[in-house]
Amino acid sequence: MQSVHIFLALALLAFIFSYASAYDPSPLQDFCVAINNPFNAVFVNGKFCKNPNLTVANDFSFSGLNIPRNTGNQVGSNVTLLNVDQIPGVNTLAISLARIDYAANGGLNPPHIHPRASEILLVLEGNLYVGFVTSNPNRLISKVLNPGDVFVFPIGLIHFQFNIAKTNGVAIASLNSQNPGVITVANATFGTNPPINPDVLAKAFQLDEKVVENLQKKFGGSNN
Ligand SMILES: *[C@@H]1O[C@H](CO)[C@@H](O)[C@H](O)[C@H]1NC(C)=O
Ligand SMILES: *[C@@H]1O[C@H](CO)[C@@H](O)[C@H](O)[C@H]1NC(C)=O
Ligand SMILES: *[C@@H]1O[C@H](CO)[C@@H](O)[C@H](O)[C@H]1NC(C)=O
Repeated sequence: MQSVHIFLALALLAFIFSYASAYDPSPLQDFCVAINNPFNAVFVNGKFCKNPNLTVANDFSFSGLNIPRNTGNQVGSNVTLLNVDQIPGVNTLAISLARIDYAANGGLNPPHIHPRASEILLVLEGNLYVGFVTSNPNRLISKVLNPGDVFVFPIGLIHFQFNIAKTNGVAIASLNSQNPGVITVANATFGTNPPINPDVLAKAFQLDEKVVENLQKKFGGSNN
């Protein structure tokens, strides 16, 4: 009788832990390569899995991350993210990788959030002023990184990187989701579709409504 109760308690614990632990589901087989056509496939939390017999090395591969990206845009940075859409073999494996290029003298990866992943970043070139902000009360955790330095951005927190070097910057980041997602704070506030009522943003940011409308025009969130 006693042992039956212990068994039931253990079974319940195992059940709870199997649901409570991870952001991406733990893999249930060696791999689960993504395909877009659901024909002959089994649905999982992620993408459909390719027949393992048809899996090839290219499902797990990507080339060209050594090539510098163009940073000639408003913020002076360019993120090349390799998630499950670029490398189908990461399906269910809870990993992805990014190359980030920063323009010299102020290339910025602007404040943003990854809703499904923490990030670990390695600086290859440049000097990056990086930081993240804790949930309330909002403490800034920041420092300047040099080539070879590594920094961690915890899941769900606003973070940024700013290249203060006179030369281009390059970093490689790894994220613990096959699909980390990105919310760029400025765009997600002033560039939404449809736009957020300017009264809301004027009050929230303590700004003149004209300033809000200008920002909404700039970020493509208003009648422009
Ligand atoms: C994969 O190949 C094996 C060996 O030929 C075969 O037994 C199995 O049915 C195949 N699996 C699928 C899903 O086609
Ligand atoms: C990033 O760089 C690539 C290749 O250099 C370019 O095609 C793309 O438009 C750039 N993206 C941004 C947001 O500047
Ligand atoms: C954010 O808005 C700027 C300005 O309109 C635009 O250049 C940039 O591509 C947007 N970024 C994202 C991630 O949508």
